[in-house]
Amino acid sequence: MDLQKYFKTKKEMIDGMLEKHFQVPSESPFAEIYDAMRYTLFPGGKRIRSILTLAAADALGKDNNTVLPIACALEAIHTYSLIHDDLPALDNDDTRRGMPSNHIKFGEDIAILAGDGLLTLAFEFLSNIETQNGDSAILLEAIYELARAAGPRGMVGGQACEVRKRKEKECELPVLQFLHIHKTGMLIRAALTIPAKLLKASNKEYEAFKSYGENLGLAFQIVDDIQDAQKGKKENFSFPSVMSLDECKARAIELKDKALSQLSIFDKKAEPLRHIATFVVERMHAKNPN
Ligand code: FPP
Ligand code: MG
Repeated sequence: MDLQKYFKTKKEMIDGMLEKHFQVPSESPFAEIYDAMRYTLFPGGKRIRSILTLAAADALGKDNNTVLPIACALEAIHTYSLIHDDLPALDNDDTRRGMPSNHIKFGEDIAILAGDGLLTLAFEFLSNIETQNGDSAILLEAIYELARAAGPRGMVGGQACEVRKRKEKECELPVLQFLHIHKTGMLIRAALTIPAKLLKASNKEYEAFKSYGENLGLAFQIVDDIQDAQKGKKENFSFPSVMSLDECKARAIELKDKALSQLSIFDKKAEPLRHIATFVVERMHAKNPN
């Protein structure tokens, strides 16, 4: 299959829906906060989390439109995490995707609020009864799953543990894995499990998605670490700080294979999920990764 074409089609669907949520007249008192949120949301990055959500719906043979609010919610949360991660109190990064970071462009005060706004909007998208006219008990489970993945026992918790651990010089592999699984893996896992919940996947399908997401999520962060190391960035809390680059690459491939093996219960409708796992890990060989 043509993965680039698949990505383009899905990105258009996601961006089309996001655009609808982010239209605010320039004379509105909320124009500035919307500008700041839009700045990091558009054109955005690879949209990998939201595309995984649509690919999960495809694997189940279900309509993508049903899960578009999940896709938008994930992009909103991911974008908030990047804005806050770049702040002086955290990573203190002046650039993001080759552009000035949100706080450089809008100031720390508005950047903090832009992150808060995006986080809150994610739950507005997912809980909007008008777009989700299905079973409200299932919707509640989906919202719970997102909250767990993003919150203090998920992404925020992973980030908070990393902040504390940074005070120590060295980090052992089990600790590093724990940080990666929470900081990055939980949201990627949620990109699979939330659509599984909402689309009433069987237990077997849900468990397969969960395990695919966990393995891919960890592989994703290892590849991100490898790319940083290849750009010459030395991070204490990264896989290349505890093992050689070749060992990191072998670990990423092992995780990808584990992710792929989970998809054996699905037919060819899961081809996009299979190709995405390969794409994520192949990026570690790219000359100019993004
Ligand atoms: C790059 O994603 C981002 C990561 C690998 C995740 C790093 C984790 C955080 C920033 C969590 C921080 C948490 C808080 C609460 C501040 P990507 O390659 O998909 O980026 P893209 O959107 O540019 O493609
Ligand atoms: Mg960072």
